[in-house]
Amino acid sequence: MNAKFIIDATDFAAALLFILGLKRMSSPVTARSGIVIAGWGVLVATLASFLYVFGIAPAAQPHLGVNLGLGIAALAIGCGWAWWSGQRVAMTAMPQMVALYNGMGGGAAACIAAVELFSGEAHAASRLVITLLGALIGAVSLSGSLIAWAKLDGKINKTLHVAGQQAINTAVLAATVAVGVYIIVATGGESSAALTGVFFVGALAFGVLMTLPIGGADMPVVISLYNAFTGLAVGLEGYVLQKPVLMIAGVVVGAAGTLLTLVMARAMNRSVSNVLFSRFGVAEVGGGGEIKGSMKPVEASDAAVAMRYARKVLIIPGYGLAVAQAQYKLYEFVKLLQAAGVEVKFAVHPVAGRMPGHMDVLLAEAGVPYDMMHELEEVNEEFQNADVALVIGANDVVNPAARTDKSSPIYGMPILNADQAQQVYVIKRGQGKGYSGVENELFFADNTNMVYGDAQQVLTKFIAAVKELG
Ligand code: TAP
Repeated sequence: MNAKFIIDATDFAAALLFILGLKRMSSPVTARSGIVIAGWGVLVATLASFLYVFGIAPAAQPHLGVNLGLGIAALAIGCGWAWWSGQRVAMTAMPQMVALYNGMGGGAAACIAAVELFSGEAHAASRLVITLLGALIGAVSLSGSLIAWAKLDGKINKTLHVAGQQAINTAVLAATVAVGVYIIVATGGESSAALTGVFFVGALAFGVLMTLPIGGADMPVVISLYNAFTGLAVGLEGYVLQKPVLMIAGVVVGAAGTLLTLVMARAMNRSVSNVLFSRFGVAEVGGGGEIKGSMKPVEASDAAVAMRYARKVLIIPGYGLAVAQAQYKLYEFVKLLQAAGVEVKFAVHPVAGRMPGHMDVLLAEAGVPYDMMHELEEVNEEFQNADVALVIGANDVVNPAARTDKSSPIYGMPILNADQAQQVYVIKRGQGKGYSGVENELFFADNTNMVYGDAQQVLTKFIAAVKELG
């Protein structure tokens, strides 16, 4: 068995693990094992890289020992930090973490390109095009993801926007591409470090400028788009290095990121360009007609007792449930209802919360079985037969204006038919609007009562009230 065969076989095994892992991530039931399998894939791919660079087929390296030391140190720091931060991260801070890790993937691809370009060696034009394209996309993904992380983490609270922003962005992108074309055509890769530096600064600046004006709440979609960028950049640099495992990993990530971006945009009934350029959720996006009626508060204990004696209760979790971290209390309450013979189901909207699968993850964390969680299409018909729809910290995903009000910014977004239940209870703290910033006519409907308070506190009262009934 020669060295090349061992490395190729290891690469192949890693690629298979990536694909299998991703396949299993498509269902909440198998997602956990999918992540573990993909993690093994990364381990095997890292091993293959070590074998290739330092091990059984070392390239001619004058500083093998030093490089090996640096490689191991980088791995130890990276793994150690990832392990530490992964253990500590709160579920609500997961989007930030994904943004940060995604940015690093883009940065790693850009670094591979930088090594090629700063070497100043001549290369075939086709190879240079691919290297520069990967560098551009990777650098945009790096700086853009860092801004997305800062916005999600509250480090940047403002959406910085200047007049003519899009013209400025286009000019920066055009100038960067022009420098890239010059490097290919005029220098054939033997360009000065300064010129290559200008190219990278332009690409990084474009990522920053493109992301700064976008509202913080749109960041999950932006991160998903940058995730697709990172995949593409990694795939391109995999081609440059002639590493099939990088190409496969890049294509898998790029395709998954692209699909996720499209799915999220569709679930919000918006185009990707609308997400990127409309400044939704930050501008004075009003809309929505005048709403008649009033919000009718009810005591938590009364709502709880009504649910205890109901036949069927459908629960709609939303962003507020995650804010309140009330998932454990919620499931405790649900188990009490079930023990009393009530049929309970969770109706999960695809964009409830602030990241894909947010509600599934939250509920799974509290131990809710997957077969109790139902997707919109699956459960929407059932609201008309439900005695109670319990809305917890959700707003936009149950706003009937999405069906009828053409002036509403959420018009056309598929919603959960909570309004069709016989009785609706809504848990929220006050008069706060949802992410889209529009009022919700469901809260004013005749069959709706508001249970005001933090979701965790209200659910604690629900539990006490049901327990009191014995
Ligand atoms: P939202 O429409 O954002 O409404 C959340 C509601 O929770 C608010 O009205 C708020 O009212 C209430 N709330 C906040 N903290 C609470 C707490 N501690 N206890 C009780 N209630 C609390 O949430 P949603 O219905 O889940 O909709 C998600 C929105 O985000 C959609 O518009 C969607 O398009 C958008 N979005 C989603 C994603 C993904 S991938 N999920 C990505 C980008 C954008 P009070 O302040 O009155 O309490």
